[in-house]
Amino acid sequence: MKINLVEKSLENVNADIEIVFINDIEKAEDKKLLETLEFKAKDESCVLLPELQKIYVGFEEKNYDCLAIASATAIKKIQSTKFKSAKINLCETLEDNLKAIVEGALLGEYKFTNYKSDSKKKKLDLSIMVSNKNNKLEKVLEEAKIISKAVNKTRDMVNTTPADFYPEVMANTAKKLAKDAGINFEVHGEKYLDKNGMNAMNSVGRASIHESKLIHLSYKPKEPKAKIVLVGKGLTYDSGGLSLKPSDFMVTMKSDKSGGCAVLSTLWAIAKLELPFEVHGIVGAVENMIGGDAYKPDDVLKAKNGKTIEVRNTDAEGRLVLADCLCYAQDEIKDIDYIFDYATLTGACVVGVGEYTTGIMGNNEILKRNAVLSALKSGELATTLDFNRYLKKTLKSEIADMSNIASTRYGGAITAGMFLDNFIYDENKEKWIHFDIAGPAFVEKSWGYNPHGASGAGVRMTIKFLQDLVK
Ligand code: BES
Ligand code: ZN
Ligand code: ZN
Repeated sequence: MKINLVEKSLENVNADIEIVFINDIEKAEDKKLLETLEFKAKDESCVLLPELQKIYVGFEEKNYDCLAIASATAIKKIQSTKFKSAKINLCETLEDNLKAIVEGALLGEYKFTNYKSDSKKKKLDLSIMVSNKNNKLEKVLEEAKIISKAVNKTRDMVNTTPADFYPEVMANTAKKLAKDAGINFEVHGEKYLDKNGMNAMNSVGRASIHESKLIHLSYKPKEPKAKIVLVGKGLTYDSGGLSLKPSDFMVTMKSDKSGGCAVLSTLWAIAKLELPFEVHGIVGAVENMIGGDAYKPDDVLKAKNGKTIEVRNTDAEGRLVLADCLCYAQDEIKDIDYIFDYATLTGACVVGVGEYTTGIMGNNEILKRNAVLSALKSGELATTLDFNRYLKKTLKSEIADMSNIASTRYGGAITAGMFLDNFIYDENKEKWIHFDIAGPAFVEKSWGYNPHGASGAGVRMTIKFLQDLVK
Protein backbone atom coordinates (compact mmCIF):
# COMPACT_ATOMS: atom_id res chain seq x y z
CA MET A 1 0.00 0.00 0.00
CA LYS A 2 1.19 3.49 -0.80
CA ILE A 3 0.32 5.99 1.92
CA ASN A 4 0.88 9.71 1.67
CA LEU A 5 -0.15 12.81 3.55
CA VAL A 6 -2.06 15.53 1.72
CA GLU A 7 -2.92 18.99 2.79
CA LYS A 8 -5.96 20.07 0.85
CA SER A 9 -9.68 20.01 1.14
CA LEU A 10 -11.12 16.52 0.91
CA GLU A 11 -13.14 17.11 -2.24
CA ASN A 12 -9.95 17.87 -4.11
CA VAL A 13 -8.29 14.63 -3.14
CA ASN A 14 -8.95 12.11 -5.84
CA ALA A 15 -9.83 8.66 -4.52
CA ASP A 16 -12.28 5.87 -5.28
CA ILE A 17 -13.60 5.81 -1.74
CA GLU A 18 -13.48 7.75 1.53
CA ILE A 19 -12.93 6.03 4.88
CA VAL A 20 -14.87 7.74 7.67
CA PHE A 21 -13.97 6.92 11.29
CA ILE A 22 -16.91 7.37 13.58
CA ASN A 23 -17.45 6.98 17.30
CA ASP A 24 -20.61 8.99 17.60
CA ILE A 25 -23.27 8.25 15.03
CA GLU A 26 -25.07 11.52 15.89
CA LYS A 27 -22.21 13.39 14.24
CA ALA A 28 -22.26 11.37 11.04
CA GLU A 29 -23.22 13.12 7.82
CA ASP A 30 -25.17 10.05 6.75
CA LYS A 31 -26.73 9.45 10.17
CA LYS A 32 -30.16 8.42 8.85
CA LEU A 33 -28.78 5.94 6.37
CA LEU A 34 -26.42 4.48 8.96
CA GLU A 35 -29.29 4.06 11.40
CA THR A 36 -31.37 2.33 8.75
CA LEU A 37 -28.49 -0.06 8.19
CA GLU A 38 -28.29 -0.62 11.98
CA PHE A 39 -24.69 0.57 11.95
CA LYS A 40 -23.26 0.97 15.45
CA ALA A 41 -20.10 2.93 16.19
CA LYS A 42 -18.42 -0.11 17.75
CA ASP A 43 -14.96 -1.59 17.22
CA GLU A 44 -14.78 -3.73 14.08
CA SER A 45 -18.15 -2.49 12.78
CA CYS A 46 -18.01 -1.39 9.19
CA VAL A 47 -20.43 -0.48 6.45
CA LEU A 48 -19.67 0.17 2.81
CA LEU A 49 -21.86 2.66 0.96
CA PRO A 50 -20.64 2.22 -2.63
CA GLU A 51 -22.99 4.74 -4.17
CA LEU A 52 -21.81 7.43 -1.81
CA GLN A 53 -18.21 6.23 -2.23
CA LYS A 54 -17.87 5.96 1.51
CA ILE A 55 -16.95 3.35 4.03
CA TYR A 56 -17.85 3.95 7.69
CA VAL A 57 -15.87 2.25 10.45
CA GLY A 58 -16.69 2.47 14.13
CA PHE A 59 -14.30 2.95 17.03
CA GLU A 60 -15.15 2.98 20.72
CA GLU A 61 -12.29 5.00 22.12
CA LYS A 62 -9.67 7.32 20.74
CA ASN A 63 -6.72 5.08 21.53
CA TYR A 64 -4.16 3.09 19.53
CA ASP A 65 -5.97 -0.24 19.67
CA CYS A 66 -9.42 0.98 18.66
CA LEU A 67 -8.11 3.13 15.81
CA ALA A 68 -5.65 0.57 14.46
CA ILE A 69 -8.41 -2.05 14.46
CA ALA A 70 -10.80 0.40 12.75
CA SER A 71 -8.24 1.23 10.11
CA ALA A 72 -7.49 -2.46 9.47
CA THR A 73 -11.22 -3.23 9.28
CA ALA A 74 -11.75 -0.59 6.59
CA ILE A 75 -8.74 -1.67 4.56
CA LYS A 76 -9.77 -5.32 4.65
CA LYS A 77 -13.25 -4.35 3.44
CA ILE A 78 -11.78 -2.31 0.58
CA GLN A 79 -9.52 -5.24 -0.36
CA SER A 80 -12.66 -7.27 -1.04
CA THR A 81 -13.78 -4.71 -3.65
CA LYS A 82 -12.31 -3.33 -6.86
CA PHE A 83 -11.57 0.09 -5.36
CA LYS A 84 -7.94 1.03 -5.90
CA SER A 85 -7.58 4.24 -3.92
CA ALA A 86 -8.93 5.57 -0.65
CA LYS A 87 -8.79 8.75 1.39
CA ILE A 88 -9.15 9.56 5.07
CA ASN A 89 -9.80 12.98 6.53
CA LEU A 90 -7.87 13.23 9.79
CA CYS A 91 -8.17 16.97 10.12
CA GLU A 92 -7.65 18.06 13.72
CA THR A 93 -9.67 15.46 15.63
CA LEU A 94 -7.66 12.36 14.67
CA GLU A 95 -4.26 13.77 13.76
CA ASP A 96 -2.75 12.53 17.03
CA ASN A 97 -3.76 9.04 16.01
CA LEU A 98 -1.93 8.99 12.68
CA LYS A 99 0.49 6.26 13.88
CA ALA A 100 -2.34 3.91 14.87
CA ILE A 101 -4.21 4.48 11.62
CA VAL A 102 -1.16 3.90 9.42
CA GLU A 103 0.07 0.84 11.35
CA GLY A 104 -3.47 -0.59 11.45
CA ALA A 105 -3.76 -0.16 7.67
CA LEU A 106 -0.37 -1.70 6.88
CA LEU A 107 -0.67 -4.57 9.37
CA GLY A 108 -4.32 -5.16 8.44
CA GLU A 109 -3.68 -5.41 4.71
CA TYR A 110 -1.00 -8.10 5.22
CA LYS A 111 -1.65 -11.40 3.50
CA PHE A 112 0.76 -14.29 3.19
CA THR A 113 0.12 -15.77 -0.24
CA ASN A 114 3.51 -17.26 -1.18
CA TYR A 115 2.12 -20.78 -1.33
CA LYS A 116 -1.10 -19.93 -3.17
CA SER A 117 -1.00 -20.68 -6.89
CA ASP A 118 -3.23 -17.69 -7.54
CA SER A 119 -1.66 -14.97 -5.46
CA LYS A 120 -2.65 -11.59 -6.80
CA LYS A 121 -2.01 -8.81 -4.32
CA LYS A 122 -3.92 -5.59 -4.78
CA LYS A 123 -2.00 -2.34 -4.38
CA LEU A 124 -4.04 0.36 -2.73
CA ASP A 125 -3.23 4.07 -2.69
CA LEU A 126 -4.19 5.73 0.56
CA SER A 127 -4.23 9.52 0.93
CA ILE A 128 -4.41 10.83 4.45
CA MET A 129 -5.59 14.39 4.71
CA VAL A 130 -4.23 16.57 7.48
CA SER A 131 -4.77 20.22 8.30
CA ASN A 132 -1.07 21.06 8.30
CA LYS A 133 1.39 18.72 6.63
CA ASN A 134 4.27 19.46 8.99
CA ASN A 135 7.55 17.64 9.65
CA LYS A 136 6.20 16.08 12.81
CA LEU A 137 3.36 14.30 10.99
CA GLU A 138 5.66 13.30 8.12
CA LYS A 139 8.04 11.76 10.67
CA VAL A 140 5.20 9.87 12.38
CA LEU A 141 4.16 8.51 8.98
CA GLU A 142 7.68 7.45 8.01
CA GLU A 143 8.29 5.75 11.37
CA ALA A 144 4.96 3.93 11.23
CA LYS A 145 5.85 2.65 7.75
CA ILE A 146 9.23 1.32 8.94
CA ILE A 147 7.73 -0.32 12.03
CA SER A 148 4.92 -1.96 10.03
CA LYS A 149 7.40 -3.16 7.44
CA ALA A 150 9.50 -4.74 10.18
CA VAL A 151 6.43 -6.50 11.60
CA ASN A 152 5.44 -7.74 8.14
CA LYS A 153 9.00 -8.92 7.41
CA THR A 154 8.83 -10.97 10.62
CA ARG A 155 5.47 -12.39 9.57
CA ASP A 156 6.85 -13.38 6.14
CA MET A 157 9.83 -15.18 7.67
CA VAL A 158 7.80 -17.00 10.32
CA ASN A 159 5.07 -18.01 7.85
CA THR A 160 7.61 -19.60 5.51
CA THR A 161 7.60 -23.37 5.82
CA PRO A 162 10.38 -25.39 7.47
CA ALA A 163 11.32 -26.91 4.09
CA ASP A 164 12.03 -23.40 2.79
CA PHE A 165 13.29 -21.73 5.94
CA TYR A 166 15.95 -23.66 7.83
CA PRO A 167 18.94 -22.27 9.78
CA GLU A 168 21.07 -21.55 6.71
CA VAL A 169 18.16 -19.71 5.04
CA MET A 170 17.63 -17.76 8.25
CA ALA A 171 21.30 -16.74 8.20
CA ASN A 172 21.10 -15.71 4.54
CA THR A 173 17.93 -13.73 5.21
CA ALA A 174 19.67 -12.01 8.12
CA LYS A 175 22.57 -11.16 5.81
CA LYS A 176 20.22 -9.54 3.30
CA LEU A 177 18.44 -7.57 6.03
CA ALA A 178 21.80 -6.42 7.37
CA LYS A 179 22.94 -5.30 3.93
CA ASP A 180 19.73 -3.40 3.33
CA ALA A 181 19.98 -1.64 6.70
CA GLY A 182 23.76 -1.06 6.47
CA ILE A 183 24.58 -3.02 9.62
CA ASN A 184 27.17 -5.70 10.45
CA PHE A 185 26.52 -9.40 9.95
CA GLU A 186 28.35 -12.41 11.33
CA VAL A 187 27.43 -16.08 11.28
CA HIS A 188 28.93 -19.08 13.03
CA GLY A 189 28.37 -22.75 12.23
CA GLU A 190 28.59 -25.94 14.28
CA LYS A 191 32.39 -26.03 14.27
CA TYR A 192 32.40 -22.70 16.08
CA LEU A 193 29.73 -23.88 18.55
CA ASP A 194 31.79 -26.97 19.27
CA LYS A 195 35.05 -25.06 19.66
CA ASN A 196 33.45 -22.50 21.95
CA GLY A 197 31.81 -24.91 24.36
CA MET A 198 28.27 -24.25 23.16
CA ASN A 199 27.28 -27.84 23.70
CA ALA A 200 23.70 -27.11 24.78
CA MET A 201 22.75 -25.34 21.55
CA ASN A 202 24.80 -27.71 19.41
CA SER A 203 23.12 -30.82 20.84
CA VAL A 204 19.61 -29.61 19.98
CA GLY A 205 20.40 -29.37 16.27
CA ARG A 206 22.43 -32.56 15.99
CA ALA A 207 19.78 -34.80 14.41
CA SER A 208 18.82 -32.23 11.80
CA ILE A 209 20.17 -32.42 8.26
CA HIS A 210 20.52 -28.64 8.51
CA GLU A 211 23.55 -27.13 10.20
CA SER A 212 22.79 -24.92 13.21
CA LYS A 213 23.74 -21.28 12.84
CA LEU A 214 24.50 -18.60 15.37
CA ILE A 215 23.61 -15.27 13.76
CA HIS A 216 24.97 -11.98 15.07
CA LEU A 217 23.84 -8.62 13.66
CA SER A 218 25.13 -5.36 15.07
CA TYR A 219 24.20 -1.74 14.55
CA LYS A 220 26.74 0.75 15.83
CA PRO A 221 25.86 4.41 15.35
CA LYS A 222 28.29 7.13 16.41
CA GLU A 223 28.16 8.12 20.09
CA PRO A 224 25.51 5.61 21.15
CA LYS A 225 23.51 6.48 24.27
CA ALA A 226 23.35 2.84 25.46
CA LYS A 227 24.22 -0.71 24.49
CA ILE A 228 21.37 -3.14 23.97
CA VAL A 229 21.46 -6.84 23.16
CA LEU A 230 18.48 -8.72 21.72
CA VAL A 231 18.64 -12.51 21.73
CA GLY A 232 16.12 -14.67 19.84
CA LYS A 233 15.05 -18.31 19.82
CA GLY A 234 15.22 -19.37 16.20
CA LEU A 235 13.90 -22.91 16.13
CA THR A 236 13.12 -23.19 12.43
CA TYR A 237 11.20 -26.33 13.41
CA ASP A 238 10.43 -27.92 16.73
CA SER A 239 9.30 -31.52 16.35
CA GLY A 240 9.98 -32.00 20.06
CA GLY A 241 12.96 -34.23 19.27
CA LEU A 242 12.90 -37.73 20.80
CA SER A 243 10.33 -36.47 23.33
CA LEU A 244 8.25 -36.12 20.16
CA LYS A 245 5.29 -33.77 20.12
CA PRO A 246 1.84 -35.27 19.48
CA SER A 247 0.74 -34.49 15.88
CA ASP A 248 -1.78 -31.82 16.84
CA PHE A 249 0.84 -29.93 18.82
CA MET A 250 3.49 -30.20 16.14
CA VAL A 251 1.45 -28.27 13.56
CA THR A 252 2.40 -24.56 13.72
CA MET A 253 5.88 -25.34 15.10
CA LYS A 254 7.38 -23.53 12.10
CA SER A 255 6.52 -20.57 14.32
CA ASP A 256 9.14 -21.59 16.89
CA LYS A 257 11.54 -19.23 15.11
CA SER A 258 9.34 -16.21 15.90
CA GLY A 259 11.64 -14.76 18.57
CA GLY A 260 14.65 -14.96 16.27
CA CYS A 261 12.75 -13.48 13.32
CA ALA A 262 11.48 -10.64 15.52
CA VAL A 263 15.07 -9.89 16.59
CA LEU A 264 16.30 -9.76 12.97
CA SER A 265 13.54 -7.41 11.78
CA THR A 266 13.82 -5.25 14.89
CA LEU A 267 17.52 -4.73 14.21
CA TRP A 268 16.62 -3.76 10.64
CA ALA A 269 14.02 -1.27 11.90
CA ILE A 270 16.29 0.21 14.57
CA ALA A 271 18.93 0.95 11.92
CA LYS A 272 16.34 2.40 9.52
CA LEU A 273 14.96 4.59 12.32
CA GLU A 274 18.55 5.60 13.17
CA LEU A 275 17.95 5.13 16.90
CA PRO A 276 20.95 6.35 18.92
CA PHE A 277 21.88 3.00 20.49
CA GLU A 278 24.41 0.29 19.82
CA VAL A 279 22.19 -2.73 19.29
CA HIS A 280 23.18 -6.36 18.82
CA GLY A 281 20.84 -9.07 17.55
CA ILE A 282 21.85 -12.65 18.32
CA VAL A 283 19.81 -15.58 17.05
CA GLY A 284 20.23 -19.28 17.63
CA ALA A 285 18.91 -20.85 14.41
CA VAL A 286 18.42 -24.56 14.99
CA GLU A 287 16.09 -27.38 13.92
CA ASN A 288 14.95 -29.84 16.62
CA MET A 289 14.54 -33.23 14.95
CA ILE A 290 14.74 -36.97 15.60
CA GLY A 291 17.29 -39.46 14.28
CA GLY A 292 20.05 -41.82 15.29
CA ASP A 293 22.19 -38.87 16.22
CA ALA A 294 19.54 -37.04 18.22
CA TYR A 295 20.27 -35.74 21.71
CA LYS A 296 18.40 -37.72 24.30
CA PRO A 297 16.55 -37.52 27.58
CA ASP A 298 19.28 -38.59 30.08
CA ASP A 299 22.07 -36.73 28.27
CA VAL A 300 23.99 -34.19 30.33
CA LEU A 301 25.04 -31.10 28.38
CA LYS A 302 27.59 -28.47 29.30
CA ALA A 303 26.66 -24.92 28.36
CA LYS A 304 29.12 -22.17 27.39
CA ASN A 305 29.34 -20.86 30.98
CA GLY A 306 30.38 -24.32 32.23
CA LYS A 307 27.04 -25.18 33.86
CA THR A 308 25.75 -28.71 33.30
CA ILE A 309 22.18 -29.54 32.32
CA GLU A 310 20.41 -32.87 32.63
CA VAL A 311 18.12 -33.34 29.64
CA ARG A 312 14.85 -34.83 30.83
CA ASN A 313 12.77 -33.68 27.87
CA THR A 314 14.12 -32.85 24.42
CA ASP A 315 11.06 -30.70 23.73
CA ALA A 316 12.34 -28.15 26.25
CA GLU A 317 14.98 -27.26 23.65
CA GLY A 318 14.52 -23.51 23.31
CA ARG A 319 16.01 -22.85 26.74
CA LEU A 320 19.09 -24.92 25.79
CA VAL A 321 19.64 -22.88 22.63
CA LEU A 322 19.04 -19.62 24.51
CA ALA A 323 21.36 -20.64 27.36
CA ASP A 324 24.34 -20.71 25.01
CA CYS A 325 23.20 -17.67 23.00
CA LEU A 326 22.85 -15.64 26.21
CA CYS A 327 26.36 -16.69 27.29
CA TYR A 328 27.76 -15.87 23.84
CA ALA A 329 26.12 -12.43 24.02
CA GLN A 330 27.58 -11.64 27.45
CA ASP A 331 31.04 -13.01 26.57
CA GLU A 332 31.27 -11.10 23.31
CA ILE A 333 29.63 -7.83 24.31
CA LYS A 334 30.87 -5.91 27.33
CA ASP A 335 29.13 -3.18 29.36
CA ILE A 336 25.63 -4.11 28.29
CA ASP A 337 22.84 -1.76 29.40
CA TYR A 338 19.94 -4.05 28.50
CA ILE A 339 19.78 -7.67 27.46
CA PHE A 340 16.42 -8.94 26.23
CA ASP A 341 15.51 -12.37 24.94
CA TYR A 342 12.49 -13.32 22.82
CA ALA A 343 11.18 -16.86 22.60
CA THR A 344 8.15 -18.99 21.90
CA LEU A 345 9.34 -20.81 24.98
CA THR A 346 6.41 -22.49 26.70
CA GLY A 347 2.89 -23.69 26.10
CA ALA A 348 2.43 -22.92 29.80
CA CYS A 349 2.70 -19.20 29.08
CA VAL A 350 -0.21 -19.46 26.64
CA VAL A 351 -2.26 -21.38 29.21
CA GLY A 352 -1.38 -18.85 31.91
CA VAL A 353 -1.95 -15.51 30.21
CA GLY A 354 -3.85 -16.38 27.03
CA GLU A 355 -2.91 -16.38 23.41
CA TYR A 356 -2.81 -12.61 22.94
CA THR A 357 -0.33 -11.71 25.64
CA THR A 358 3.44 -11.87 26.08
CA GLY A 359 4.82 -13.02 29.45
CA ILE A 360 7.53 -10.70 30.77
CA MET A 361 10.04 -12.07 33.27
CA GLY A 362 13.26 -10.98 34.92
CA ASN A 363 14.87 -9.79 38.14
CA ASN A 364 14.27 -6.05 37.86
CA GLU A 365 10.76 -4.92 38.84
CA ILE A 366 11.05 -1.45 37.33
CA LEU A 367 12.48 -2.70 34.07
CA LYS A 368 9.71 -5.30 33.79
CA ARG A 369 7.05 -2.61 34.43
CA ASN A 370 8.60 -0.32 31.83
CA ALA A 371 8.65 -3.15 29.32
CA VAL A 372 4.96 -3.84 29.92
CA LEU A 373 4.18 -0.13 29.47
CA SER A 374 6.15 0.07 26.22
CA ALA A 375 4.37 -3.03 24.95
CA LEU A 376 0.93 -1.62 25.74
CA LYS A 377 1.75 1.75 24.18
CA SER A 378 3.02 0.02 21.04
CA GLY A 379 -0.20 -1.95 20.55
CA GLU A 380 1.04 -5.27 21.97
CA LEU A 381 -0.33 -6.99 25.06
CA ALA A 382 2.05 -8.04 27.82
CA THR A 383 2.05 -8.83 31.51
CA THR A 384 4.65 -9.74 34.13
CA LEU A 385 5.10 -13.20 35.60
CA ASP A 386 7.05 -13.28 38.85
CA PHE A 387 9.92 -15.59 39.78
CA ASN A 388 9.98 -17.10 43.28
CA ARG A 389 12.32 -19.19 45.44
CA TYR A 390 10.05 -22.25 45.56
CA LEU A 391 9.67 -22.67 41.82
CA LYS A 392 13.43 -22.20 41.50
CA LYS A 393 14.01 -25.38 43.51
CA THR A 394 11.97 -27.45 41.06
CA LEU A 395 14.76 -27.20 38.45
CA LYS A 396 17.15 -29.22 40.64
CA SER A 397 18.82 -32.28 39.14
CA GLU A 398 20.28 -35.27 40.94
CA ILE A 399 23.19 -35.60 38.55
CA ALA A 400 23.80 -32.20 36.95
CA ASP A 401 23.70 -28.53 37.97
CA MET A 402 20.09 -28.31 36.83
CA SER A 403 17.41 -30.13 34.88
CA ASN A 404 16.02 -28.73 31.64
CA ILE A 405 12.47 -29.21 32.95
CA ALA A 406 10.88 -28.53 36.31
CA SER A 407 9.68 -31.29 38.60
CA THR A 408 6.24 -29.64 38.76
CA ARG A 409 3.81 -29.13 35.90
CA TYR A 410 2.64 -25.84 37.39
CA GLY A 411 4.20 -22.47 36.62
CA GLY A 412 5.93 -23.74 33.48
CA ALA A 413 6.49 -20.31 31.93
CA ILE A 414 8.15 -19.08 35.12
CA THR A 415 10.34 -22.16 35.62
CA ALA A 416 11.52 -21.81 32.01
CA GLY A 417 12.37 -18.16 32.70
CA MET A 418 14.19 -19.16 35.89
CA PHE A 419 16.14 -21.77 33.94
CA LEU A 420 17.41 -18.96 31.66
CA ASP A 421 18.36 -16.90 34.72
CA ASN A 422 21.15 -19.46 35.31
CA PHE A 423 22.84 -18.11 32.20
CA ILE A 424 22.61 -14.43 33.03
CA TYR A 425 25.88 -13.23 34.54
CA ASP A 426 25.76 -11.43 37.90
CA GLU A 427 26.56 -8.02 36.40
CA ASN A 428 23.59 -8.35 34.01
CA LYS A 429 20.92 -9.74 36.35
CA GLU A 430 19.09 -6.42 36.64
CA LYS A 431 19.49 -5.65 32.95
CA TRP A 432 17.80 -8.73 31.61
CA ILE A 433 14.24 -9.38 30.46
CA HIS A 434 12.83 -12.60 29.08
CA PHE A 435 9.83 -12.23 26.74
CA ASP A 436 7.81 -15.43 26.30
CA ILE A 437 5.89 -14.74 23.07
CA ALA A 438 4.51 -18.31 22.66
CA GLY A 439 0.91 -17.01 22.73
CA PRO A 440 0.80 -13.97 20.45
CA ALA A 441 3.55 -14.98 17.97
CA PHE A 442 1.29 -17.22 15.93
CA VAL A 443 -2.39 -16.53 15.33
CA GLU A 444 -4.58 -19.56 14.74
CA LYS A 445 -7.85 -17.60 14.61
CA SER A 446 -7.49 -14.03 13.37
CA TRP A 447 -7.81 -11.20 15.91
CA GLY A 448 -7.50 -7.42 15.71
CA TYR A 449 -5.33 -6.58 12.72
CA ASN A 450 -3.68 -10.02 12.75
CA PRO A 451 -4.71 -12.50 10.07
CA HIS A 452 -4.09 -16.23 10.51
CA GLY A 453 -0.37 -16.94 10.85
CA ALA A 454 2.55 -15.06 12.29
CA SER A 455 1.81 -11.75 14.06
CA GLY A 456 5.31 -10.28 14.36
CA ALA A 457 5.02 -10.17 18.18
CA GLY A 458 7.90 -8.45 19.95
CA VAL A 459 8.89 -6.02 17.21
CA ARG A 460 6.69 -3.05 18.08
CA MET A 461 7.16 -3.30 21.83
CA THR A 462 10.94 -3.40 21.52
CA ILE A 463 11.10 -0.43 19.19
CA LYS A 464 8.80 1.49 21.54
CA PHE A 465 10.98 0.61 24.53
CA LEU A 466 14.03 2.02 22.73
CA GLN A 467 12.15 5.09 21.51
CA ASP A 468 11.05 5.75 25.09
CA LEU A 469 14.70 5.54 26.20
CA VAL A 470 15.62 8.41 23.88
CA LYS A 471 13.22 10.79 25.63
N1 BES B 1 8.18 -24.38 21.27
C1 BES B 1 7.61 -24.96 22.40
C2 BES B 1 6.65 -24.03 23.16
C3 BES B 1 5.39 -23.61 22.44
C4 BES B 1 4.21 -24.29 22.67
C5 BES B 1 5.38 -22.51 21.62
C6 BES B 1 3.05 -23.86 22.04
C7 BES B 1 4.22 -22.12 21.00
C8 BES B 1 3.05 -22.79 21.22
C9 BES B 1 8.70 -25.38 23.39
O1 BES B 1 9.91 -25.75 22.83
C10 BES B 1 8.17 -26.55 24.15
O2 BES B 1 7.90 -27.54 23.53
N2 BES B 1 8.02 -26.40 25.45
C11 BES B 1 7.49 -27.43 26.26
C12 BES B 1 8.23 -27.41 27.56
C13 BES B 1 7.98 -28.61 28.42
C14 BES B 1 8.56 -29.85 27.78
C15 BES B 1 8.58 -28.38 29.78
C16 BES B 1 6.01 -27.12 26.48
O3 BES B 1 5.63 -25.97 26.59
O4 BES B 1 5.23 -28.07 26.52
ZN1 ZN C 1 9.96 -27.80 22.24
ZN1 ZN D 1 10.36 -24.87 20.98
